[in-house]
Amino acid sequence: MDFNIALIPGDGIGPEIIEEAVKVLDKVAGKFGHNFNYTKLLLGGASIDVNGVPLTEETIEKAKASDAVLMGSIGGDAKSSPWYKLEPSKRPEAGLLGIRKALNLFANLRPAVLYKELSKACPLKEELTEGGFDILIMRELTGGLYFGERRTYEENGLRTAYDSLVYNENEIRRIAIKAFEVAGKRRKKVTSVDKANVLDSSRLWRKVVEEVSRDYPDITVENMLVDNCAMQLVRDPKQFDVILTENMFGDILSDEASMVTGSIGMLASASLNDTSFGLYEPSHGSAPDIAGMNKANPIATILSASMMLRFSLDLTKEADAIDRAVEKVLEEGYRTGDIMSDACTLLGTKEMGDKIADNI
Ligand code: IPM
Ligand code: MG
Repeated sequence: MDFNIALIPGDGIGPEIIEEAVKVLDKVAGKFGHNFNYTKLLLGGASIDVNGVPLTEETIEKAKASDAVLMGSIGGDAKSSPWYKLEPSKRPEAGLLGIRKALNLFANLRPAVLYKELSKACPLKEELTEGGFDILIMRELTGGLYFGERRTYEENGLRTAYDSLVYNENEIRRIAIKAFEVAGKRRKKVTSVDKANVLDSSRLWRKVVEEVSRDYPDITVENMLVDNCAMQLVRDPKQFDVILTENMFGDILSDEASMVTGSIGMLASASLNDTSFGLYEPSHGSAPDIAGMNKANPIATILSASMMLRFSLDLTKEADAIDRAVEKVLEEGYRTGDIMSDACTLLGTKEMGDKIADNI
């Protein structure tokens, strides 16, 4: 079959890791008789350099016209990059927020999985992680503090600023439904995370999640305060299956959860709207310090490509083939620098991409 994939290489290590994902996708296309047509789009710093703005109508329209979007990473070094001399609404990150909103990508799935081959990289004590853990963070992505009204002004001679955290019940309901649907295909537990002891928006969140949960009697639901969740993630990560939370809490907890796995260079993510369309990207950032050095781990992007085949293109066998190829390469002891340990073989970005493609 023919598919149109929009590619957003982006900034920093983005272009290198996207190249490896394309290498693997092309191998899949050849083996399974598909045709992937790629359209490269500009976003973030790469777009600022060409267009003066981090997101253009052209990028939005072409992304919408595609079957799915595969992205590398956005952003640069805030201290040295000229992009950060621009006002906040014109910086690379604004492009990322803009495309999430424009494509209505309200459901952000961020798996935090402890790979058995990489268990040594996990910073937690062995007894806490025995048997591994597999958490899926379901982060609301187009509401809350990120998109609420904000202002910086002066009041009584004092510099003052505010950001507002607003959710309506529909925004909460649609992400809650996604979380319960996904949990049904996993270990059937949803932990909804909020700050209901302080915030009105969290109290509404909790009510709506409880209402939605009535339609899913086979799924266990629990509510957890966000500060407690931050603690539980390092105290006992095995207790979690799906963590459902709002935008800002999800941003913070997903970084924490990914670090707890010890292998952020391995973690993929999907941002979905209410159809099968989605934007897929690694959970890690643009790592400008190692950009262009053939050091970055391309596996998170390759696994994001696999998620894209599975969720948006409905190519299950092909996605399985990518996941198996990654496992095989890890079993054989090949590693990039970020996940390197004793008795393993160190590979660069390109060589890791080659190895995985060879195993498709
Ligand atoms: C993420 C990132 C973004 C976010 C930044 C780059 C705006 O941290 O995808 O988690 O906060 O959503
Ligand atoms: Mg983040």
